Amino acid sequence: MNDDAQLSEGAKEAGVPEEPVPEKEAQSQEAPKPPSVRVRIRRGGAAGDPDERFDEFQVETGPRMTVLDALVAVQSAQEPALSFRYSCRVGMCGTCALKVNGRPAWACRTRLEGLGDEITLEPLANFPVLSDLAVDMSPFFEKMKRARGWLEPTGLAEKAPALIAPNSRERKRIEPHIECITCGICYASCSIVGHDSDYLGPAALNRAYTLVNDSRDALGLERLLEVCTEEGAWRCHSQYNCTESCPKGISPTGAIKGLKRRAVTGGVKRFAASIFRGRAPGA
Ligand code: SF4
Ligand code: FES
Repeated sequence: MNDDAQLSEGAKEAGVPEEPVPEKEAQSQEAPKPPSVRVRIRRGGAAGDPDERFDEFQVETGPRMTVLDALVAVQSAQEPALSFRYSCRVGMCGTCALKVNGRPAWACRTRLEGLGDEITLEPLANFPVLSDLAVDMSPFFEKMKRARGWLEPTGLAEKAPALIAPNSRERKRIEPHIECITCGICYASCSIVGHDSDYLGPAALNRAYTLVNDSRDALGLERLLEVCTEEGAWRCHSQYNCTESCPKGISPTGAIKGLKRRAVTGGVKRFAASIFRGRAPGA
């Protein structure tokens, strides 16, 4: 027993009341609270749902914790009915895209550090909401279909694997645009999509660009004419919102500019050819 304990035992025996511990001192002896963040989550069904609201949850945080970790923590410990999507957790599938503090982002690759004591999570803009944070991706994939976002192989490409050199102009042109994982973030950040729901949007046009430049694709000019329309490439105002927000570092704006360039040079060539053939353009 140490000296303090001996003294206190002695005081008890002598009937001397113990001195109360000052309140401040007692508080400082409590275990420190673990760091936490307040998460505000948009709840409810489609826009205009009378039940639409923001619910708040306090979530304990740890090192390297992501927005997706926080959502999983809320769903497992506080609100099992919370709807949101994810799959790979490592930035490969694109399904976890949502708005974090007003900006579109992947939940699985957005760390809580640096976001502040309170974060607000909302579904992606420009998509119909299904429930809480989950949106309906169908309009986005419909537009991929309208742009015919798949390869239509030439006869040659069907017969044998095509050899495209890594340092060829063709490969270099396509390379910066092929890593799209169709997460929809560019589509959600595009103000033109917000105004005109028929506009093909950045991801579909970016995909079309890779195919228009691919020598293995048989559609060539046909595809170019299909996507360079009033509701296609010509609708883009080059605001670069899509390029700024793409987590893969793709520039859909650059791709759309490339489509416009090809359409113009193709048009000029056809115009010149018609003159040389002695016919009025379009006759
Ligand atoms: S271009 Fe980027 S932001 Fe747009 S869908 Fe593809 S990966 Fe997502
Ligand atoms: S869960 Fe797949 S990209 Fe986030």
